[in-house]
Amino acid sequence: MKILIKNIKSLIQTDEQNIEKVAAGRMKTLPSITDAWLAIEDDKIAGFGKMEDWEGISDWSNLTVIDATDKLVFPCWCDSHTHIVYAGSREGEFVDRINGLTYEEIFQRGGGILNSAKRLQQASEDELVQGALQRLNEIMLQGTGAIEIKSGYGLSVEAELKMLRVIKKLKTLSPLAIKATFLGAHAVPSEYKEHKADYIKLLINEMMPIIASEQLADYCDVFCEQNYFTKEETVEILIAAKKNDMIPKVHAEQLSNSGGVLAGVEVGAVSVDHLEYVGDKEIEALKNSDTIPTILPGAAFFLSLPYPPARKMIDAGLPVAIASDYNPGSSPSGNMNLMIALACIQYKLTPEEAINAATINSAYAMGLSKTHGSIAIGKQANVFITKEIPGYSFIPYSFGSNLIETIIINGKVMN
Ligand code: NIG
Ligand code: FE
Repeated sequence: MKILIKNIKSLIQTDEQNIEKVAAGRMKTLPSITDAWLAIEDDKIAGFGKMEDWEGISDWSNLTVIDATDKLVFPCWCDSHTHIVYAGSREGEFVDRINGLTYEEIFQRGGGILNSAKRLQQASEDELVQGALQRLNEIMLQGTGAIEIKSGYGLSVEAELKMLRVIKKLKTLSPLAIKATFLGAHAVPSEYKEHKADYIKLLINEMMPIIASEQLADYCDVFCEQNYFTKEETVEILIAAKKNDMIPKVHAEQLSNSGGVLAGVEVGAVSVDHLEYVGDKEIEALKNSDTIPTILPGAAFFLSLPYPPARKMIDAGLPVAIASDYNPGSSPSGNMNLMIALACIQYKLTPEEAINAATINSAYAMGLSKTHGSIAIGKQANVFITKEIPGYSFIPYSFGSNLIETIIINGKVMN
């Protein structure tokens, strides 16, 4: 199977040097080719360039030609932080927050993550697979081509393994690139409230060895936060995770400055995510690391949190990634177009910075930047074609609109 997309008004995020991430001032540039063509062979990008330099094609058999006059072509969005395997929904808590309760107060009453855990423990593997597949399909049509999915609504040996096996199944059922993350340390289950150390032992001694032997997770994450896990506990859990072949990630400084970034840098995390309460100390620590700061504008928006200092981090020389945090409690949307818009409108990222953050940098945050996140020869053919739009800034400008017309995943048109 071959696809030729021709007369592309602008081919966005082209790369000829296999860049793995972009930082600082370089985030303001978005390499693009105007009046371009893009060739796909089987599931890979086979070539691209300017129309005037196109030398034709010798073998027209099995070729689909798509005319993209006045349309833009992008590499699909990469979403490096989600919790899309869940049961039920939490709009009741949403209304409680409107009426004055805080996210923390709801958690203290046994709601929040514990509410989702109760429901997930009762759900069958099949129900969870079906629910997650629907969400994967929804975000694919919004342009997402690669995604990380976390456990963390199980909070028992049985239910955490169930979640991870569901994610493993999704890897075979969905055309999207999927990475799995073990987030057993998402909250302390009620029955361990008075002896958290025993729950940490359960994570390390019971869950991790099975996860490693069945290769159920690529990453391990911890919610480092007051009333969840301390900085020291985060480091302890993530060191154990590394011994079990999982790469660390951290939910850091979301509700307070609680040490998540420093813990992440200490253990060599691939990413630290959220970052609403990041200060200068954390920015300094990140400068001397390979850890990518990742902002989740949907969660900050939905919970009315202060904005993470994304502008300041980029100006300090750091790379920044964007992800959706799609989950039932703090970000019931996985729409990356909206996340990009929020980053531009609220955090003052330029469209170029936000698009870099949601493509190559988010691919880096889940170890996929060699195969996803840009238009490069040999990369996975996960691209989307927009409707007729004036330029890429029109995407965050028209927040809330669906401007994507055609989705191609692994070289196949999906819609
Ligand atoms: O990324 N911060 C912790 N975890 C999730 C929220 C999970 C939930 O409320 O269900 C987050 O925001
Ligand atoms: Fe999260």
